[in-house]
Amino acid sequence: MQKMLIGFLSFLCLSFPLAAADAGEYEHSLAAEKMTVQWRLDETMIHLKLTAPTQGWVGIGFGPEDAMKGADFILGAVKKGKVKIVDHYGDKKRGHSSDEKLGGKNHVQNPQGSEVDGTTSIWFSLPLGSDEQWDKSIEVNSMYPIMLAYGSGADSFRRGHAWRGSYEVNFTSGESKKVK
Ligand code: HEM
Repeated sequence: MQKMLIGFLSFLCLSFPLAAADAGEYEHSLAAEKMTVQWRLDETMIHLKLTAPTQGWVGIGFGPEDAMKGADFILGAVKKGKVKIVDHYGDKKRGHSSDEKLGGKNHVQNPQGSEVDGTTSIWFSLPLGSDEQWDKSIEVNSMYPIMLAYGSGADSFRRGHAWRGSYEVNFTSGESKKVK
């Protein structure tokens, strides 16, 4: 009996810290139809996870001005087990180019991802502020416009979306609403 009790107590001690660490990884989430966005803020960064039912790319665009123009896009895909996450800018109403090609830098930190049973997830950290003209300073204390999208299956970042949507989100409180 004593052995069972000790076993049970060790099980509790070992499993609870793990469960707590998992649950606390992201503080907020937005269910955008079949796509999910999860995030956590600290003073200077946003830590984001995007998940969508695709074998292609998943992406988020911060602060669009006119359709896709003016948005700071982060797109990622997992190809043969390797994740690639890029930093793009909406230089056209219906298109985007890599910051590096435009003269800037990829500001994504700690890029990670997985592709399991047709679902792709990418997670990464991004500075909230940037003085580069192809990045947005992300406003976290009011409703801020974002775009979400995922591709149809090809890993190429040039392939268009299978699904896309426009939302507003308060990254601090977690409040969000669909715009279109
Ligand atoms: C990967 C290459 C991409 C291509 C070729 C592409 C192409 C296009 C085109 C042609 C349109 C206008 C037609 C339509 O409304 O469907 C459009 C609109 C849109 N795209 Fe993209 N797109 C790409 C990536 C993205 C990404 C990464 C996002 C978001 C993360 C996104 C979000 C949107 C949204 C929200 C609209 C609607 C804009 C509006 O009408 O206000 N797109 N895109």
